[in-house]
Amino acid sequence: MPKENGIFIQGNPEDVLVLGIESSCDETAVAVVRGGKEILSNEIFSQASLHAEHGGVVPELAGRSHLERILPLVQRALEKAGVEKEELGGIAVTNRPGLIGCLLVGLSVAKTLALSLGIPLIGVDHIQAHIHASFLADPGLKPPLVVLVASGGHTSLYSVEREGEGVLLGQTRDDAAGEALDKAAAMLGLGYPGGPAIEKAAQGGDPSALALPRGTLDKKSLDLSFSGLKTSLLYHLRGPGIQRPFPELSGEEQRDLAASFQEAVMDTLCTKLERAALLHPEAAISVGGGVAANKRLREKIAQSKILRGRRLAFPPLALCGDNAAMIAGLGHLLLSRGERSDLGLEARARSRAQI
Ligand code: KG4
Ligand code: ZN
Repeated sequence: MPKENGIFIQGNPEDVLVLGIESSCDETAVAVVRGGKEILSNEIFSQASLHAEHGGVVPELAGRSHLERILPLVQRALEKAGVEKEELGGIAVTNRPGLIGCLLVGLSVAKTLALSLGIPLIGVDHIQAHIHASFLADPGLKPPLVVLVASGGHTSLYSVEREGEGVLLGQTRDDAAGEALDKAAAMLGLGYPGGPAIEKAAQGGDPSALALPRGTLDKKSLDLSFSGLKTSLLYHLRGPGIQRPFPELSGEEQRDLAASFQEAVMDTLCTKLERAALLHPEAAISVGGGVAANKRLREKIAQSKILRGRRLAFPPLALCGDNAAMIAGLGHLLLSRGERSDLGLEARARSRAQI
């Protein structure tokens, strides 16, 4: 006799299998997570090479690629998890924020699966899922938590008093940290995506070779800014106002400029995280989003005197960038609280917290 717990249609929540789908930007991802904690599969197809020649994500190309990849990826995620689709207890899908044409691909597949299997559907906020990755990675972690989410599209600080409900503390007023890294890498001739390319090129470089501004704005604000930093590098490379081509850089110049730019970005992020942490003295500290994979950022946070003694809950690299395990994990939590989405669930470009 199925257990009717008012949450899932049947079964013990700890055994319920949720399929997560992520297609908000340039990664198609599908995962199966048991009980909101145990990752059985976490399949990702990165479109990075598709967008590399354009130096950034082209929405039309991204949408088409999601369409081509998503169904085989669902199949692969189920196979890797050793699960039949009939065993699933819920479908979680990113429905915000993101590129509308991309989100719609994941949403269509999620709705079709939920309807045909007769199981609940839940729409998940991509940023809240990045925050949730810390709880997924470390089941012993409990709120309060202060989290920095830094990716190609977002850079924000959140406090979490209740799992699944990150409250926005501050955010970038212009470029996201990852976007600034991507643009700087293009200027330095380092390719796309820029974050990992800059991290690699920065090895052995001198982080004090070029003095760059820190976009920490005024002391009281928890907002950030990265456009001034980006413009400083641009002016350094080709002077203000003149449309000259970027100069050819020697290997040493490339290393030094990559190290200086990386240091300025990570310094800015770490300083703001420290300020947010000071306002939440009991909170553990975490990071999420693609930029959170950066080793210099992790090192700076770990070495911070202000953060000394805090529990650091950094998720593993596989859960930092876009992935569907975080979507399935948060989806399970929301479903277990009785939340559901109906088949009218819409794609939204922005997350509620940003409006
Ligand atoms: O979270 P994510 O995978 O996708 C978005 O939601 O945007 O983040 C992608 C961003 C890109 O800007 C990429 O350059 C950056 O994360 N990134 C990194 C590193 N790995 C990825 N930035 C710095 N260091 C890294 N190791
Ligand atoms: Zn992301």
